[in-house]
Amino acid sequence: MVLLVDDERDRLHLLPLSLGDGYRVLAFDSARDALGQTDLGTVDVLLADVRMAGMNGLELLDAVRVTDPDLAVVLLTSYGSVSQAVECIKRGAYDYLQAGFEDEALRATTHRAVEHTRLARRARTLEARLHLRESYNGIVGQSRSMHEVFSLIDRVSTSDITVLVTGESGTGKELVARVVHRTSRRSAGRFVPINCAAIPRELLESELFGHTRGAFSGAHESKPGLIEVAEGGTLFLDEVSELPSDLQVKLNRFLQDGEVRRVGAIDGNRLDVRIIAATNTELEREVEAGRFRRDVFYRLNEFPIHLPPLRQRPEDIPLLAQVFLEARCEREAKSIEGFDPEVLAALCSYDWPGNVRELEAVVARAVVMARASRIGQECLSPALRRTAQLPAAPRTFDGLSYREARAAVEAEGVGAYLRQLITRHAGDVRQAAITAQVERETLYGLLKRHGIRPANYRRSGNAG
Ligand SMILES: Nc1ncnc2c1ncn2[C@@H]1O[C@H](COP(=O)(O)OP(=O)(O)OP(=O)(O)O)[C@@H](O)[C@H]1O
Ligand SMILES: [Mg+2]
Repeated sequence: MVLLVDDERDRLHLLPLSLGDGYRVLAFDSARDALGQTDLGTVDVLLADVRMAGMNGLELLDAVRVTDPDLAVVLLTSYGSVSQAVECIKRGAYDYLQAGFEDEALRATTHRAVEHTRLARRARTLEARLHLRESYNGIVGQSRSMHEVFSLIDRVSTSDITVLVTGESGTGKELVARVVHRTSRRSAGRFVPINCAAIPRELLESELFGHTRGAFSGAHESKPGLIEVAEGGTLFLDEVSELPSDLQVKLNRFLQDGEVRRVGAIDGNRLDVRIIAATNTELEREVEAGRFRRDVFYRLNEFPIHLPPLRQRPEDIPLLAQVFLEARCEREAKSIEGFDPEVLAALCSYDWPGNVRELEAVVARAVVMARASRIGQECLSPALRRTAQLPAAPRTFDGLSYREARAAVEAEGVGAYLRQLITRHAGDVRQAAITAQVERETLYGLLKRHGIRPANYRRSGNAG
């Protein structure tokens, strides 16, 4: 539909005739009426005179650019006024027609403008859909499992329920916790993280619950705990499996009735704090083994969100890599478009023991190494380059001599063995060497040759 605005009645009647039968025309003799009485979303092009009493064409253009930036606006300017035409284009008009234009020019311009509006609108909806599919509040992912995570976060946003985020190291647990907070009605409150594994046992209690003056030697002042600091917001209990048993009891009390008692205090304090906990161990197994209290587990596990390891959602890898690439390039002021196909293949077949965090680091390194406009294999670490050259599928045996094929199979098999070995021992090479019945130095050499870094296999609890 064409929206026509002109305060000269004659033109208002003539223009629709010049346009021909192809268009429905809605005509107004004042800009204010046009704005007030039309749904711009149904309009394909706005034709308006620049010189009008009241709100003129340029002001109308400004108003439309704000409410519907995709709608093409064609302005009718005075005969021979170059400065007016320039002004129209500068302010964002799609085109202009100078007084005295031919019907043919009107029809052609209108036709192009309508096309422009349609394309711009389609691009915008596609873009919106793309963003919807590929990320959620900064959490990137297009795999089914990540979509499930997005919808869980969505559903939990209107609730105050305790959330337990689980997943291997580097899968994005803290990122998810922050988004849960940010999308909740507590978003104006604070997000207070505490890593239960990083704080010495004897300090953890007063760190979490606070203490009164003189509660223990060295407690010169009374001090609020982090739960109190999080009042009105969210407390993020990271690596919650490391919480000592007596503090689990104290936490349970808070989870039950919202009450917190500072160390040394007689009375408790009621607080309004939402708890999000995270762990990269299987908490249920800790419960079975008697290392974590069952009652606390049930309370923390009210609403679990599990983040699968990156190797189980390879379709997220190219997307994450591209997002990290763009972010990195911006920081380093480099312009790199993307990855060579072999590099992407290597990234997708690697097993990512350090998950998304490791991928982020690999991309960061590659950006620094890159000399061209694409990331090539030479930008990868030796470990990844070897992954890229591993004979992953039988077709790579094609044309190999027996010796070469045997070496390739051996390399792959031994690599898999070493990875399992080192995973089982959580990166502890000394223990792994005992199981493997080889000298420690030998094992170090083997690991190095196969590009396996024991540090990547350590649980973050003992990684320090
Ligand atoms: N889906 C994702 N989209 C974008 N960035 C991600 C995603 N997942 C993880 N990251 C990024 O990877 C890094 C590691 O994530 P995060 O710290 O949340 O992991 P974690 O699960 O808490 O790890 P750990 O158990 O070692 O503490 C962060 O820089 C985070 O922003
Ligand atoms: Mg973390």
